[in-house]
Amino acid sequence: MAFDILLNSSLTILGVGLIIKMIQWLSYKTGIRAENESMLQRLAAALKGVLSTVFSLRFFNLPQTFVLDILFLRRTFKQDLLRWIMHMLIFWGFILLFFMHALESIVSDNLFSYYYSTINPFMFLRDLFGAMVLVGLLIAVFRRFFMKIQRMTSNAQDIYAILIVGIIIVSGFGLEGTKIISYNEFLNMEDEFAALDYEEDIFALESYWVKNYGLASPNNISNVSEEVLALGEEIHNDTCIDCHTKPTAAFGGYAVSRAFKPFAGILEFIGAVNIFYWIHILACFIGLAILPFTKMFHIVTTPLSLFTSAVMKRENASPLNIATRQAIELDACVHCTTCSSNCSVAPAFDILGNENIMPSERMMALRRFSTKQKISSQDFLAIQEGICLCSSCERCTVVCPAGINLKELWYDVREHFIRNGSIVTPLVLTPYSYNRAYSRDEFESPLQDSPAREAKSFIGRKYNKGKFVERDKPLPLIPDKDQPDKKDMGLTQDTFAYCFSCENCTNICPVVMNYEKPEEALDMLPHQIMRSLGLGLTDLVLGANMLWDCVTCYQCQENCPQNVKVTDIFFELKNQISKECFKNHENES
Ligand code: HEC
Repeated sequence: MAFDILLNSSLTILGVGLIIKMIQWLSYKTGIRAENESMLQRLAAALKGVLSTVFSLRFFNLPQTFVLDILFLRRTFKQDLLRWIMHMLIFWGFILLFFMHALESIVSDNLFSYYYSTINPFMFLRDLFGAMVLVGLLIAVFRRFFMKIQRMTSNAQDIYAILIVGIIIVSGFGLEGTKIISYNEFLNMEDEFAALDYEEDIFALESYWVKNYGLASPNNISNVSEEVLALGEEIHNDTCIDCHTKPTAAFGGYAVSRAFKPFAGILEFIGAVNIFYWIHILACFIGLAILPFTKMFHIVTTPLSLFTSAVMKRENASPLNIATRQAIELDACVHCTTCSSNCSVAPAFDILGNENIMPSERMMALRRFSTKQKISSQDFLAIQEGICLCSSCERCTVVCPAGINLKELWYDVREHFIRNGSIVTPLVLTPYSYNRAYSRDEFESPLQDSPAREAKSFIGRKYNKGKFVERDKPLPLIPDKDQPDKKDMGLTQDTFAYCFSCENCTNICPVVMNYEKPEEALDMLPHQIMRSLGLGLTDLVLGANMLWDCVTCYQCQENCPQNVKVTDIFFELKNQISKECFKNHENES
């Protein structure tokens, strides 16, 4: 009765939660898309998108995604074996328990006519699945709290997820263990299935169960005779054996029962079976009821995100659907922090200490932001800094096991912030954010025409105090394909194109390290010079002190993940300047 009321209320709360979530997905506006459209328009666009997928060839991507990415976590497997093992154990253990045990009346009873949770193989399997989850959880705790994985942080949701699953499983084992020893359980069963009239028969059965089934009895059965045991076995074979395998098969519960046996009397007195039962049931129901607002909701959203990324093509998707998808993606993030350990600007976090530089943390902040929970202005600025430092190298998107298109999310949110009056240093922006950030009011030509060029001239003017001259052709220093003779230093245009401003060169530079405010002393930092050259802003870098302060230790060059020849380029720049100086000198004299 109480069970039914609780089950129904948690299902109702779950339903309401799901509706709230869907409303949130359809009304999310943190990005730049779908700013003026109503929820109904977005719902219509979503339905249209789903229908057009169902009737397209892309639909056939789904089975592969389902099996490889969802059931077997291919992406995680490729990245981190231990994490894959952990997740496979928890996922499969829990799913199998859910269907075999939690839904036994719907699934197991119908699939197997002989199903009883107290006979093999089900008895053994239930413990096996539970043990799988438990081992998985132990690995999770070990990874999160003892392994010191780089840039891995844990928040309340991460801890909740481990706790709720842990409580369900541990209380399950506790329940099984206390039931095995419980004398009351035995008496109830005897009453129901044997209904023995004589005390001696009950005692015989009891003795048999104490000896063979782990029961704890308040009566003294140490001296029972062989005859009594034989009588017990006979009754057992008549009335109990069809539904009961020896409890040793339930290895987890049986181990618990052995540990609890000395305290059987107290446990019976306090009603331990009931206590474990209610902890178990309440944990399940609470977990279910609040599912949409917890990390565990990823069992729905992450597959959803993987499915959408398998069928949705960015180019021809409706902006409304991209907005909706981004909202789902925020919920699909499991905070595994794979993105942060691969992020090319995350080293900046070590210096600046702003968590939002790490994509995984920014994701959490954006989630709070998108659901309009209060966000302090300080947090807002921190998110801005994080989002503007992003170099759009796309590594986060490539590695995300949940298939989230993080790069696109950063673009959109960045533009959203920029529109709301951002204060950022131009050189930390990517070419995509330049035009969105600055050219909107400055330039007349349509933004999409040549964003990089417009960005260049804007930055040129900003840094050269208005003296910037835009050239039709870049200085010969940056050789282009028309000038193959300039290849002598190996400085082809590609050299800079690979730079994505990871700042490795700057971080490792002993000259930079030497100054408290290197950007003032050196004018420009190595990565800024590379970035500017990549944009064709040669004029901008020629005057930078950095070039002349360089001690040519070659550390930058050796540590560049993209093989940019930073030090060689510095040499080339200095030669170029010297040449120009000589030329001017000769002309003058
Ligand atoms: C129709 C099948 C059936 C029969 C017959 C049956 N039991 Fe059970 N018994 C069960 C099930 C199912 C459970 C577990 C109930 C639950 O999960 O709450 C159980 C639980 C128990 C428990 C608690 C320990 C545990 O493993 O959960 C005891 C003790 C027990 N039975 C004793 C007996 C005895 C003694 C007899 C014979 C007189 C008997 N049962 C006959 C199905 C049966």
